[in-house]
Amino acid sequence: MRVAARRVFSSASATRPARIAVVGCGGWTQGWHLPNLANRADAEIAALVEPADEPGAGGCLSGRLESMATLEAKYGAPRYHSLAALLAERRSELDGVLVAAPHTLHCALGKEVLDAGLHLLMEKPMTTDVAEARTLVDAGAAAPQLALLLNNTANWQPGFIEARSHVRERGSIGEVRHVSCLLAAPLSWLFEGHDHAGWTQPTGTMVGNGFGWGQLSHTFAWVYGATGLTPSTVYAAAVHSAATGADVYDAATITCTNGALINASGVGTIPDAGFKVVANWVFGTEGMMHFGGLAGSDGAAPDSSGDGSAAAEEMAALARQQAQGARLQVHLAPAAHSLAAPRRPPGQHHLI
Ligand SMILES: NC(=O)c1ccc[n+]([C@@H]2O[C@H](COP(=O)([O-])OP(=O)(O)OC[C@H]3O[C@@H](n4cnc5c(N)ncnc54)[C@H](O)[C@@H]3O)[C@@H](O)[C@H]2O)c1
Repeated sequence: MRVAARRVFSSASATRPARIAVVGCGGWTQGWHLPNLANRADAEIAALVEPADEPGAGGCLSGRLESMATLEAKYGAPRYHSLAALLAERRSELDGVLVAAPHTLHCALGKEVLDAGLHLLMEKPMTTDVAEARTLVDAGAAAPQLALLLNNTANWQPGFIEARSHVRERGSIGEVRHVSCLLAAPLSWLFEGHDHAGWTQPTGTMVGNGFGWGQLSHTFAWVYGATGLTPSTVYAAAVHSAATGADVYDAATITCTNGALINASGVGTIPDAGFKVVANWVFGTEGMMHFGGLAGSDGAAPDSSGDGSAAAEEMAALARQQAQGARLQVHLAPAAHSLAAPRRPPGQHHLI
């Protein structure tokens, strides 16, 4: 499944800021997207779309958010109750739409945006249903002049771009034969908390909800994006929270169309020391690659700001220092030890 990431798009005037409508004004939008857009010189917030007067109930920052009346005043943007109402009235004034609505609405809202001829930045997970994912990709393919961008955040960062270049453009590590990936995050407040139904309870056609959809989707986007592997079959199991039913420990073994295997692990409940653990190992016929370390956590936990004491400040500084450890390492096999020859059929065990 291909989603355009490298096309260059231009608006009618390259000199004015892009006019962006934001759909869904809950926790992630209020904490990250709106402040970011408001601070940019190359974009302006043209409209807010949100059905609820008090947004974000059940979302990641449930109970700690501003009302729509406050947001309208703060960002100087008119509020609409639905995307359809916005498009009917203001379509021609917009350049693009950012969708940060609940997972299960991504396909319908995203298709509405693309069908209206507007660029789309869609939050992860792209959809929670394979047929819906294909629908969205087809809508993007039918409008190649439009951007269809997915906000799997790490996939826009230098480590990913370098990893993808090594594997898919330069072929540095040869053919990918195995991937082992782990994501572990201090998110029990989210997946085991009772005010975050959007992250713990399935809706629409979703099969389950929890760390898999909420976080491991980032790991899969990284792995498939960096390696170009195409999954073929999967065996997966999960351990669920006794409090919410959300999956909080996930394990999956995936076979890919070229015979490569992916082992994936997700852990949603590590102690909060200010970081999450990322470990993506990619093994190829000519070398191997590791992207990982202790990546910064998003600091969204209700108690993550500390109590302001010297000890809390010291802990926070240490966490920031540790969190800078996520990096990319590439190890190439010496030519004589290349695993490429003789080529072995996919799946055959071979000790080296
Ligand atoms: N990229 C990342 O790292 C990252 C981080 C956090 C959240 N997210 C994603 O952002 C999205 C939102 O998450 P959240 O925790 O902010 O959720 P949230 O529940 O706090 O906010 C979603 C908002 O969308 C509104 N909404 C519902 N139906 C709508 C519709 N038809 N049109 C417009 N708005 C509608 C809800 O009323 C709610 O206020 C999710 O898809 C989530 O996975 C991504």
